[in-house]
Amino acid sequence: MLTQLQIHHLRNLSQVALRELGQVNIFYGPNGSGKTSILESVHMLGMSRSFRAGTPRTLVTHGEQRCTVYGVTEFATAGQRASVAVQRELSGELQIKLAGEKLRSVAELVAHLPLQVLNAASFDLLTGSPAARRQFLNWGVFHVEQRFFSEWQRFQRCVKQRNKLLRRGKLEYSELSVWTRELAASGEQIHRYRQAYFEVLAPRFRAIMAELSPGLNGLELRYRKGWDKSLAYGDALASSEVADSEQGYTHVGPQRADLRVTVSGYSAAETLSRGQQKLVVCGLKLAQGQIMAESQPRGCVYLVDDLPSELDVQHCRQVCEALTALQAQVFITCVDAKDLEGMWPEGVNPMMFHVEHGRVVERSATDPTQEQPPSGCT
Ligand SMILES: Nc1ncnc2c1ncn2[C@@H]1O[C@H](COP(=O)(O)OP(=O)(O)O)[C@@H](O)[C@H]1O
Ligand SMILES: [Mg+2]
Repeated sequence: MLTQLQIHHLRNLSQVALRELGQVNIFYGPNGSGKTSILESVHMLGMSRSFRAGTPRTLVTHGEQRCTVYGVTEFATAGQRASVAVQRELSGELQIKLAGEKLRSVAELVAHLPLQVLNAASFDLLTGSPAARRQFLNWGVFHVEQRFFSEWQRFQRCVKQRNKLLRRGKLEYSELSVWTRELAASGEQIHRYRQAYFEVLAPRFRAIMAELSPGLNGLELRYRKGWDKSLAYGDALASSEVADSEQGYTHVGPQRADLRVTVSGYSAAETLSRGQQKLVVCGLKLAQGQIMAESQPRGCVYLVDDLPSELDVQHCRQVCEALTALQAQVFITCVDAKDLEGMWPEGVNPMMFHVEHGRVVERSATDPTQEQPPSGCT
């Protein structure tokens, strides 16, 4: 897990140094104090970018040239301690260092510190476009199936090439059929990886939802592969070839896959209350994190922004308990300390950090009135 975190010039966090982090780290404070920016910093360490939309200009503190996030990771089971540093220049230039070595690919970083994010944007999993759900599916498969990433790159290359040929208008059939064959093989493989993952995910999701919200009946998770389920991908491509060449793109395939949540057959997005939707999203992310934790020694880190909003106390507690059961490291935010403080099972002593105007102050868990001196904060 992440044991230390230092942040320089990221949004309103001009200089923050947290030299001791725990399994559960609660950041509380008023609106605009910098809580989400702290989660963003951890996200930078795991993914080299923010989870919020925007350019480096919006991420780097106004008037500064670059933002830097530095962390130390320690994994008991893997027996390693390493430093990670990610620096983003205003120009967009990115520098990533893991254990002092410059990394060329973000994929290496991603494997080092696997993350799960639960924030307002996570509602997209239910209410957004299928792209958000495919991304969720891919993220899960990526961490359990090493061959997925290169297959995914191959698949995307094939779709791009095939679409390019389709758009040329005057078709060169022999060339098209070469790419179609390649695409059929790759797309079928992507589907097999996703299907295998889904078969592990669905029962986990069901079990977690039964704990989180036993009253929510008839919940079902379905995977659609992106073409007629009775056909092999090659046959589906053959039957859509006329439409494909008329419109200049490939209509069917894993690029159209989806993951749907229904309640007694109705769309969850259109049926559930906002709070229930949040629980379902939590269920999906917890199920994914559980699989991640089992498939690699490192487990994963949860970044949970404003958990208490939309959830009643009981459900908030259930989510905290489920997070604890995963033994994941948790970075979690709320406005009032009391919204999250008492939510954890016995034996879990969350570290409490008060955030105000970009300063972060650790508060002793045993004495809520005592605030420790700022640790390296300006
Ligand atoms: N590039 C930037 N430079 C300086 N301050 C910024 C920048 N981007 C955002 N801010 C400010 O940073 C503060 C922290 O935002 P945020 O982390 O979202 O707060 P919280 O999650 O605590 O409500 C906000 O007051 C925002 O106005
Ligand atoms: Mg926030």
